[in-house]
Amino acid sequence: MKIIVSGYSGYMGKEVVKALEKGYCGSELRGGIDIMLKDETTDIPVARSFEEAEALFPKGSFDCIIDFSHHSAVSGLLAYARKVGAPVVVATTGHTESELSEISAAAKDIPIFFSANMSVGVAVLVKLAKTAAAMLPDAEIEIIEKHHDRKLDAPSGTAVMLFDEIKTVRPNATAVYGRSGHGKRHFDDIGIHAIRMGNVVGEHEVILATPTETISLKHEAHDRALFAEGAIVAASFLYKMDKGLYNMHDIMKD
Ligand SMILES: NC(=O)c1ccc[n+]([C@@H]2O[C@H](COP(=O)([O-])OP(=O)(O)OC[C@H]3O[C@@H](n4cnc5c(N)ncnc54)[C@H](O)[C@@H]3O)[C@@H](O)[C@H]2O)c1
Repeated sequence: MKIIVSGYSGYMGKEVVKALEKGYCGSELRGGIDIMLKDETTDIPVARSFEEAEALFPKGSFDCIIDFSHHSAVSGLLAYARKVGAPVVVATTGHTESELSEISAAAKDIPIFFSANMSVGVAVLVKLAKTAAAMLPDAEIEIIEKHHDRKLDAPSGTAVMLFDEIKTVRPNATAVYGRSGHGKRHFDDIGIHAIRMGNVVGEHEVILATPTETISLKHEAHDRALFAEGAIVAASFLYKMDKGLYNMHDIMKD
């Protein structure tokens, strides 16, 4: 399977390239897209815009795009993918409501895999958190996430995903971001706390506490390769699928 990496020069783009160059999941690197190509000496074809990508990587010359760029790139990315009829793994986070609507609309024409976290372990964490929130109806819940100091969006897409999933079993849940000031917490509040420091790859913890016990569910990513490999697994999954919007839960059902 031939893959184009959008966000080619970034931290995650480089991890995907590394995994593809090793032939991870039987896939290969077809090329990249990045508005700020950093390595000029590369032999790999890299487009600096989606217009250039249309010429460099036309319809039928590759099988899937993996996107680890910036949420604001999503309109151009989806327009290009629709034009060439290519499936897209959108691994970028921090999308606005209107960008999220664009992703749903594009999934009516092409297969799209969209997950704020490409780790299977995080998909397990999401399931466990939802189960615990339902089974402990009197527990107060807080979410803490930690990432490296270069991360642009806060809270992380994964923390938002955890909140959204918990809300399906706690319909009155209200997100409270980085609590400050005076006053008691309301039972339905779910605090979401974002820590940014050093080179932390990614940690997510969901804490549930009743007056008599506390459960802490925590996932720690040790290596960015985890997300790169997950995105390539998602691309292999997407390659077999018809148009539509898919996520990690669909892979776990497979
Ligand atoms: N889903 C996951 O599992 C997961 C894991 C890690 C990071 N991420 C997300 O992936 C994204 C990238 O993270 P990173 O740490 O590699 O960031 P980064 O800043 O190191 O890299 C982003 C790259 O995208 C390029 N870029 C920016 N705008 C672009 C555009 N319009 N078109 C093409 N390329 C563009 C930049 O030049 C840069 O090279 C972030 O949104 C991050 O939150 C997701």
